[in-house]
Amino acid sequence: MATYTAPAKVNLSLRVSSKQREDGYHNVDILMAPIDLYDTLEFNNSRTTTLACDMPGVPTDESNLVFKAVREFEKVYGRKAKQRIALTKAIPHGAGLGGGSADAAVTLKALNEILGTNYAPEELQTMAANLGSDVPFFLNPVVSRCTGRGEIVTPEPQLAGWSRPLVLLKPQFAVSTPYAYKNLTCSRRLKGINYGTQVLDDIQFVNELERPVFAKFPVLAAMKTWLLEQEGARVALMSGSGSSVFALTDTPEQAKAIAEKARQELDPTLFVHCGTVNPQP
Ligand code: C5P
Repeated sequence: MATYTAPAKVNLSLRVSSKQREDGYHNVDILMAPIDLYDTLEFNNSRTTTLACDMPGVPTDESNLVFKAVREFEKVYGRKAKQRIALTKAIPHGAGLGGGSADAAVTLKALNEILGTNYAPEELQTMAANLGSDVPFFLNPVVSRCTGRGEIVTPEPQLAGWSRPLVLLKPQFAVSTPYAYKNLTCSRRLKGINYGTQVLDDIQFVNELERPVFAKFPVLAAMKTWLLEQEGARVALMSGSGSSVFALTDTPEQAKAIAEKARQELDPTLFVHCGTVNPQP
């Protein structure tokens, strides 16, 4: 048995070109960072490939990105991978935290090790990019600049040692990423909401998908505004295409206090994570 962990991410900044590319994607300029929220994947040799997942509602058939990663790997491998995979989910789905992408990237890395194929990072990168724009980042989840449609990943070594306490809130509903990108140019800003660039630790925090997503889900805009008002919250932003919003604080105690207050004042059914952005080894 081999066990691997897959971290979630948040987008510290996400800028999108308003023009759609010929392939239907948008060019982006993203600053992405891992957080200490992890899915776990267990691999066992087997007669066929199967997937089990502890979280109800997560598909375990060929539509799951883990399964798609196995099939993508097999295309290059030329043989069947034959793994029994058990996925334990901690990263919520439809949250803008890259959970499915992280699982897919870890599957590629795991198969490369377990099957002894030793494919080079560039080969894994190509497989990852075929699975989704965010997947290549998770092959080496360190603070990185992601460009192109998100698949061109450049680590930011000057931010390797940077870290901050984090509080992350996610309502029960999910947001569709294609929806956010499709409504980029036709959506309006809500009055009284701060969409502007925030600066902390010399990092610019901004997310241009907030405009279309907040227009459809004003409760997310209200959550961001509420976070910005909390004691100790230095920045607050939606992650990816939502529905998570997060704040960074000076101390873990401040993050914890905000999380408790959020459950009391906003919504007792919120998914809440208190932890660290870019946890240090
Ligand atoms: O690459 P991924 O499968 O994660 O993208 C999901 C959808 O999000 C795409 O089909 C596209 O509609 C949109 N997208 C985009 N531009 C990007 C990334 C995603 O338009 N850079």
